[in-house]
Amino acid sequence: MNIYEKDKQFIANTYSRFPVEIVKGKGSLCWDASGKEYIDFGSGIAVNSMGFCDDQWVNAVTQQLNTFQHTSNLYFQSPCVKLAEELCKRTGMKKVFFSNSGAEANECAIKTARKWAEENKGSDCYKIITLKNSFHGRTITTLAATGQDVFHKDFLPLTDGFLYAEANDINSVKEIVEKEKIAAIMFEAVQGEGGIVSLDKDFVLGLKQIADEYNILLIADEVQIGNGRSGMLYGYMTFGIQPDIVTTAKGLAGGLPFGATMFGEKTADVLKAGMHGSTFGGNPVCAAGAVNILSRIDDKLLSEVKKKSEFIKNQLNGAKGIKSISGMGLMLGVETEKDAKQIVNKCIEKGVLFLTAKTKVRLLPALNIPMDLLKKAIDILKEVCAEEI
Ligand SMILES: Cc1ncc(COP(=O)(O)O)c(C=O)c1O
Repeated sequence: MNIYEKDKQFIANTYSRFPVEIVKGKGSLCWDASGKEYIDFGSGIAVNSMGFCDDQWVNAVTQQLNTFQHTSNLYFQSPCVKLAEELCKRTGMKKVFFSNSGAEANECAIKTARKWAEENKGSDCYKIITLKNSFHGRTITTLAATGQDVFHKDFLPLTDGFLYAEANDINSVKEIVEKEKIAAIMFEAVQGEGGIVSLDKDFVLGLKQIADEYNILLIADEVQIGNGRSGMLYGYMTFGIQPDIVTTAKGLAGGLPFGATMFGEKTADVLKAGMHGSTFGGNPVCAAGAVNILSRIDDKLLSEVKKKSEFIKNQLNGAKGIKSISGMGLMLGVETEKDAKQIVNKCIEKGVLFLTAKTKVRLLPALNIPMDLLKKAIDILKEVCAEEI
């Protein structure tokens, strides 16, 4: 049996994979088993922030791996403390809880919001508003938070207490807030799995106003758009607001499983000893990787992200076969005349790995992708979009 057949036989069939076996990667390039080279425009879904096997990151990670690979959360260890201190300094948040994934980071945010509301607004105040078309994870509770029926239907009943408002429609949020007891509002600055839909600045400022007026927590889910991808360190920063809880994962540790839930003034001391925990959460090897990644998401890199984003938009706007571009920074969605999946498959043949998001082609290159590879990939995308079917 070849690898495709063995995969099908022995691995649960939860993914429909592209027909590519990645065997090696370096920077924004990777190779399949036949030696064919690809430009990577997916970064493992926004994970490999500095591309594959970046030298500095590999050094930071292997140094920690050669020091100690894990210790329980019952002891102190410096990689997590360094990372938490740096995250707090750069976000204005006050404390951090570390986990292993985006879903777990969001679970922690939801638990904290419920506990905060119980203490501050009463035990009948536990509901959380999320947005239609959002995506917050695949555990039963984060699925419930996800505002898309398509993810719910096979796993009912889900965790109670989530209400869904229309994205970019502040009246839809107001209507719920006026009727229900609400603990928190949770949003993604750019809805990733929802098809790269950006929230309007006025809408997010409206959320902030409602949160202040009704004493409701604001939770920014920065799992996909966070860690430099928006062109700011975190996507919410583009709106000039300060959330009460920020969650992140994906690109934070540059390719290792890691999640972080950051707490602001109101929520920093809600969780007490024994209320929440994780065996692997805060793994020092992952934390060392994250310290390295965070130290490199500086003003220079962020301005490069913005420039590259503008370049891509300029190249694709008005190009043949392309209807529109959405998103922020290096998290872009391209609405194409032809079927997006078909375009992605054609690009794979031509040596570029793009992704899809709903009906769009999704672009998530490494934050430090070299300009020559970026241009080459965008030329191929343009060429494929312009081809007759
Ligand atoms: C905005 C957002 N939140 C949460 C998640 C879940 O993250 P994970 O797959 O690491 O659990 C994702 C994953 O795509 C996401 O895009």
